[in-house]
Amino acid sequence: MARVVVTRRLPAGGLDPLLDAGHEVITNDEDRVFDPAALAKAGRDADAILCLLTDRIDAPVLEAGATGGRLRVVANVAVGYDNVDVATAARLGIAVTNTPGVLTETTADTTWLLILAARRLATDAEADLRSGRWRGWGFEDHLSLDVHGTRLGLVGYGRIGRAVARRAVAFGMEIVHHTRHDTGEPGWTADLDELLATSDVVSLHVPLTDATRHLIDRDRIARLRDSATLVNTTRGPVVDEEALADALHAGRLFSAGLDVFEREPVVHPRLLSAPRAVLLPHIGSATIGTRTAMARLAATNAAAVLAGERPPDLVTP
Ligand code: GLV
Repeated sequence: MARVVVTRRLPAGGLDPLLDAGHEVITNDEDRVFDPAALAKAGRDADAILCLLTDRIDAPVLEAGATGGRLRVVANVAVGYDNVDVATAARLGIAVTNTPGVLTETTADTTWLLILAARRLATDAEADLRSGRWRGWGFEDHLSLDVHGTRLGLVGYGRIGRAVARRAVAFGMEIVHHTRHDTGEPGWTADLDELLATSDVVSLHVPLTDATRHLIDRDRIARLRDSATLVNTTRGPVVDEEALADALHAGRLFSAGLDVFEREPVVHPRLLSAPRAVLLPHIGSATIGTRTAMARLAATNAAAVLAGERPPDLVTP
C-alpha cells in the first residue's frame, strides 16, 4: 500500500482507481492551496502526488521527494503541465503524467463560448441590460461582428485546436492553422505572422513552454486586424497581457476572449477595464463530467506507476 497526497479537493469518484487498489489517499477536503512548504512535505511523505495547475511542483519539492522520501509519481490533473519541472523529475527518476484527451471537447466548447461571446459582444450587451442602461431595441445598438463565414486562425493544432476546427466547419468558416512542423493537412501555414494578419478570429492552442511564452507579444498583437478577435484558452503567459490590454483600449483589435491569465488569479487591471473583453476565470474544462474524468485519469496514471506499470499518459521521457 502506497501513500498518495492529493493537493486539492477532487470530484466524488475521481480517486476510485487509487482507493480500489488499496492505497492510502490523503485528501485536502478544505481545498486550501498548498504553499511551497506543504508541497515539499507532500513530496517527502508520499509515494505519489496528485496535483493541479495551481501547484508549482518545482525542484525543491521533487528533491524532497527523491532524497528525503520515496516519491515515484507526480500526476497532474490537467493536460498542461507547465507547473511541473519535468526535466528535474526525469533526472530524479520521478514519473510525471497529465490528463490529455478527456478534456478536449469541453475545452473546445469553452473556446467557442469565447469566440461567440467576444465576436457578438454578449457580455457587454448583458451588462447594459443588467445595469438598466438598455432603453429598448435600437437598430444600431450593440452592433458586433459575425462569426459565420469568417476566417479562423488556429495557433497550435493538437487535440483541442482540431476540436475547435471541427466546430468551425458548421459555422462555414475558412480555417487555417499554424504549427512549427508541417501537419500535411489543408490550411497549414508556416507563417504565424501572416495567419495573425489575415484571420478574423485567432484562437491559441499551444502549450506553455519556453518557446511559447509571450508568443503573442506586442509586435504580433500589432499585426492583428483591427476587426480581429483574439481568444486564449491555453495558458495566460502565451500572450503579453499588458500589450493586449493596450491594444483593446486603443481599438487596435476588435475584441478578446480570455479564459487564462498571466498571473492567475490576478488579472491585469488594464484588462479588467478594457472594452470588448470577455474574461472567464479559467473554466475551460470545468464541467462535472470532464473534471471527474480528469481526476480518474490522473488517479489511473498514479496507480499504474505505483503498480510498476507504464502509465497511459507519461510525459517524462
Ligand atoms: C487546464 O487548463 C488544463 O491544462 O487541463
